[in-house]
This record gives sequence, C-alpha cells and structure tokens, in this order.
Amino acid sequence: MSSSLSLGWRLRVLAATASYFMIGEAAPAKSSAVDCTGTFTPISASEYVKAINPGWNLGNTLDAVPDEGSWNNPPVEPVTFEDVKSTGFKSVRIPVTYADHYVGSSPDWTIDPDWLQRVSDVVDMALDAGLYVLTNMHHDSWEWADVSKDDANLTMIEEKIHRTWVQIGETLACKSSMVAFEPINEPPAEDADDGAEINKINELFLQALQESGGFNTQRVVTLVGGGMDSVKTSQWFQAPSGYENPWALQYHYYSPYDFIFGAWGKTILSDSDEAAIEADLERVRGNFTDVPLVIGEFDASPLNCEPAARRRWTDVVVRKAAALGTAVMLWDNGEDHLDRGTHAWKDVHEIRVLLRAAAGESNSLATATSDASAAEQSSAAYLFHKAGDAAADQTIAVDLNGNAVDLISVEGGQLLDSAEGDYAVEGGEITFAAAWLARFFNETAVPGSKANLTITFTAGATAGVELVVWDLPTLGAVSSTAVSGSDLRIPVTWAGLEQVAAVKMLRSDGVYLFDDWTQYLGPLQAAYGTWTSQWNWDGTAVILTSTTVDAVIAAGVPSVFTFDFYPRVPGNSLNYTLNV
Ligand SMILES: *[C@@H]1O[C@H](CO)[C@@H](O)[C@H](O)[C@H]1NC(C)=O
Ligand SMILES: *[C@@H]1O[C@H](CO)[C@@H](O)[C@H](O)[C@H]1NC(C)=O
Ligand SMILES: *[C@@H]1O[C@H](CO)[C@@H](O)[C@H](O)[C@H]1NC(C)=O
Ligand SMILES: *[C@@H]1O[C@H](CO)[C@@H](O)[C@H](O)[C@H]1NC(C)=O
Ligand SMILES: *[C@@H]1O[C@H](CO)[C@@H](O)[C@H](O)[C@H]1NC(C)=O
Repeated sequence: MSSSLSLGWRLRVLAATASYFMIGEAAPAKSSAVDCTGTFTPISASEYVKAINPGWNLGNTLDAVPDEGSWNNPPVEPVTFEDVKSTGFKSVRIPVTYADHYVGSSPDWTIDPDWLQRVSDVVDMALDAGLYVLTNMHHDSWEWADVSKDDANLTMIEEKIHRTWVQIGETLACKSSMVAFEPINEPPAEDADDGAEINKINELFLQALQESGGFNTQRVVTLVGGGMDSVKTSQWFQAPSGYENPWALQYHYYSPYDFIFGAWGKTILSDSDEAAIEADLERVRGNFTDVPLVIGEFDASPLNCEPAARRRWTDVVVRKAAALGTAVMLWDNGEDHLDRGTHAWKDVHEIRVLLRAAAGESNSLATATSDASAAEQSSAAYLFHKAGDAAADQTIAVDLNGNAVDLISVEGGQLLDSAEGDYAVEGGEITFAAAWLARFFNETAVPGSKANLTITFTAGATAGVELVVWDLPTLGAVSSTAVSGSDLRIPVTWAGLEQVAAVKMLRSDGVYLFDDWTQYLGPLQAAYGTWTSQWNWDGTAVILTSTTVDAVIAAGVPSVFTFDFYPRVPGNSLNYTLNV
C-alpha cells in the first residue's frame, strides 16, 4: 500500500543552498526547498503511534560505524523487511549514522549523495514491505554531537545537526506520511544545561525540516530528551513551539539494568522488578499526559537473559506500554532476534509474547524463580535432567492468566497425547510422565539439548520448553598465575547448555574482587561479577576479561572464580583460582 503512495512522486530540488539560520530568524525562501508532486495524507502523531505498534529496529546496519556492513550485519535486503512485516510488526526504526559520510566540512557539511540515496532506497524497501518507518541520525550522538563534553563546540554541533537535517529532509521530502523522523539517538546529557541544549537540537531539527520543504512540515516527528532516558526526559524536555509538525516523544527502556545487562549474577526477574517496570512507564506517562509516546528501543537479549524471565519482561513492558498508549519498537542488533540469513526468530515464543501483548491479549507465561534471596533457581522454560539419572516425572508451572493449555507438541512434529498419559494438566501445573520423557531423559542420555516443546494455549502466545540433559562442564585447567594486559581464556568442554549463567569473584582474603555492596544481595548475587566487562564465554572457553585479571593483580592475593552454569543448582558450578 505504501508503494502506490510513493510511486509517481517526483523529487525536485530547486536549489541546494539552504544555509544555517538561528532559531527565530526567518526561514529561507521556499525556493530553496524541495517541491513534491503527488499528495500527502496527513496523520496525527497519535494516529502514527497507534499504527506503528509494535515496531522493530534495523539495528547495527545503517547505523554501523563507519559504514553499512562494517559491523555484524551485511547490507540490508528487502526480504528482511518482508520477514518483519509477515511476522506481524507494523513498523521499522531505521537508525542511520552519518558521521563518516560527510564529503564537505563547515559550514555546508555536505553528505555523500550516494549515502543519502542509499538511505532513501532503504526507506523505500521498508515502505514497499508495508511497514511504517522511523529514521534518525544515530551514533552521531557520540561520534561528534555529544553536547555534554566539557570541550563540546556547540556552534559546530548545532550547525552540523541543522545542515544534516536539511539534507536528510531534502532527500526524504516526498516520502509518504508513513515515514517519520527522529532528530538524534540517545543524545548524552548530564545536567539541565545539556537538557536545554537537547531541546534546542529538537528545534534546529524542526527548523531544518521546514527549510527542506516537501511534505516535511506535515510529517510526524518523535522528539527526544536527554539520553532518551525516561527520567532525564521527564526532568528537562520542553516542548518546542512555533512548528507545525505533529510530534510524539520517544524514549528508550533497558531496565532493570542488572537483569538486562547480566550484572552481579542477576538471572531472575523479581516481582518488585516487574512493579518497578510498570512504575517507570507510568511516571513517563504522568509527566506527559497528552503526548503520544514511543519506546523506540527496548530489548532483553536472548544471548544472556534467562528465557522464562526474559519472556515475562517482554510481556510486562509491552503490555504496560500498550495500556498507557505507548508504542514499542524492539531493538535488534542482528544477533538478538531475527536471524536475517535464515529468516528465523531466535526465540519465536518471545516474539509472540510481544505481538500478543501489544494487541492487549492475555499471555500464559512460564514461571521462574522471582525471589531474589533464593539459593537456587528454577525455570519453566526448561526441563533439566542430570546425566546418569533415571527418568522421573517432571512438573513445570505456568501462569495461565485466564487461558488454558490446548496442545503440547515437539518442535518438528509429534503431538503429545494427554489421554495416553504423556502429560497431565492441573491448573497451571503440567506434569510430564517419566514414561514419555524417557525417550530423551534416561540413564544413558548424553548431555545436550534433546528437544523443544511448544505449548499452545487457548489464547495468547505459545510457551517454549527446552529439554536439556546436563552435566558439569570441564575446564582445561583449575588455576593459573595472572598475566596482565589480556583476557584469560580457560578452555571448556561443555555439557548441557553451552552458556555461563554467572561468575562469583571472591579474593582468598574473603574480600569481594568487585562491588563490595553486593553483600546485601542474595546468595546467587553476592560477590558476583558483570557479564562482558568482567567475564564472558564462547564455544570453546570461559573468559575472565583483562579488567578482571588486572583487578586480581592489583589485589595482590589470589582470587577464586566460581562459574555457575544452568540450571543454577548446587553442584553445577566450577571453581578456578587465579594466583598472583
Ligand atoms: C567551533 O565550530 C565553529 C563552526 O564549525 C568553528 O567556526 C569554530 O572555529 C569552532 N571553534 C573551535 C574552538 O574549534
Ligand atoms: C515525572 O518524572 C519524574 C522523574 O522520573 C518523577 O519523579 C515524577 O514522579 C513524574 N511525575 C509524574 C506525575 O508521574
Ligand atoms: C535415552 O535418551 C537418548 C536421548 O537423550 C535417546 O537417544 C535414547 O534412545 C534413549 N534410550 C532409550 C532406551 O529410550
Ligand atoms: C532447542 O532450541 C534451542 C534454542 O532455540 C536450540 O539451541 C536447540 O538446539 C534446540 N534443541 C533441539 C534438540 O533442536
Ligand atoms: C568454590 O569456591 C568457593 C569460594 O568462593 C567455596 O565456597 C566453594 O566451596 C568452592 N567449591 C569447590 C567445589 O571447591
């Protein structure tokens, strides 16, 4: 439907001489602006926000530095937008970094015309797939437009943002009303002065759109506050006045920090976390009662967040946002969600949770440990079986949320038969019979993932249950002497899920290697380190980063590292000693 709107439009740039004007000065004569043939169907910001929910981000693609293709994703192809659309998403955010595409300097800041053409072509690809589009200027926010730096040249930043948006505006001037603009991604702001500067950037952006012509003054925009952080935005954002554009406000949501970013051993989502998420979203709504709102990014990565807790997090965020009239757009860096090569979603159940929650439908959700003081963890996203054990009945619990269990199937085919006794349902408890499980779980079963079950409910999303035989992995060594300056890779032979859940970091003198305050957390978090900055893993090794190795050297005493694996139960951990 979008292609028929955009087809036949001719873009005519009468003159490309728009120069920089201070806010309040007269905009340049319309003769420097783009004229479009064809018509534009105006939509309000609230109509736009309703229509885009839910959306998906084309992350790490045109926003990659220095160029599309520089990071983990190849140049985008139309099929990716078709995949996103056919899954049920309504919109795509297309982040674009302009930093390395300037071919001119002050005062014109001319952007490479080939790059502008590429951006225009990608926007068309998304429109052709039937998606609403939101595009921006992305990592420029830290590449050259960071107003919070002590030595920031605000004159240059304002001039360059203005000139960039005149050129983007001219390039996309005649696109349909399904295309919206966002001035800049997550602009850093430390204090009220920075916040005020971000307000000025919103105005420069609107002024540039006015000068660029076409349909741009009728186009929806999503304005931004400091860091696109909900609190800073609530504190410092001031609505611009004197511009025609219908506008919404955009913010991003990655909270609770420790759950999302794998910090301090946090592999659960507690009830108070869920309440805090709801309160966060309510506070933004409370500050902007009449403003259409967009959460332009939110994401709990399947790479590190436990699946039952992660699906629950997605449900809470999306459901609460929908109830507050806030659209959501899932961040996807190309590793987290859609496998663009195979066209498959990494966790199809989570995507269904998102889509159904956005539609206001009730989802049944697997339970997981939510008590932060627990000494071990459970998750109904898995059935775990210890290698060597005989098969036994296993029960998982689901919060049905008004639905009932309909069908259970093994991924790839077979339907389980409750009449034959494969499983029994009682309320939200599903018990799988030892006789049925024995085909995967028995005394001779070797460690690894054995099957994935899909539970279909009478309404809402499906739930996934992975059947895993686990044993303790083995490390290639139990100790070594710390060597400064590089990551320590400890070879591992995996047995079960090939993933580290969390790592405890305790000095031999009993002091915590990092973050002493974690003593106030539960036993699965006290003295635990933070994923990627302090520890990591891959297919062949568990990793202590150079930061961690150097901290051991600085401490001057050995440290013991306890690697916890999934399931986080007694006996599924390994110690490694780093000596000095
Ligand atoms: C700041 O930027 C302006 C505009 O680009 C430039 O003329 C000026 O020389 C810059 N000032 C400094 C101190 O670099
Ligand atoms: C506005 O946001 C601030 C910062 O998050 C918060 O303290 C305040 O309670 C919010 N106001 C309302 C009415 O929600
Ligand atoms: C035991 O489980 C494994 C898979 O984990 C399976 O290949 C094997 O056939 C099972 N053995 C029996 C006797 O069912
Ligand atoms: C089950 O799903 C997980 C995650 O998608 C995957 O890694 C695993 O290989 C699957 N197991 C089987 C037996 O297909
Ligand atoms: C691993 O180290 C911890 C101290 O951090 C200790 O309490 C625990 O007993 C050790 N486990 C084994 C199996 O040695």
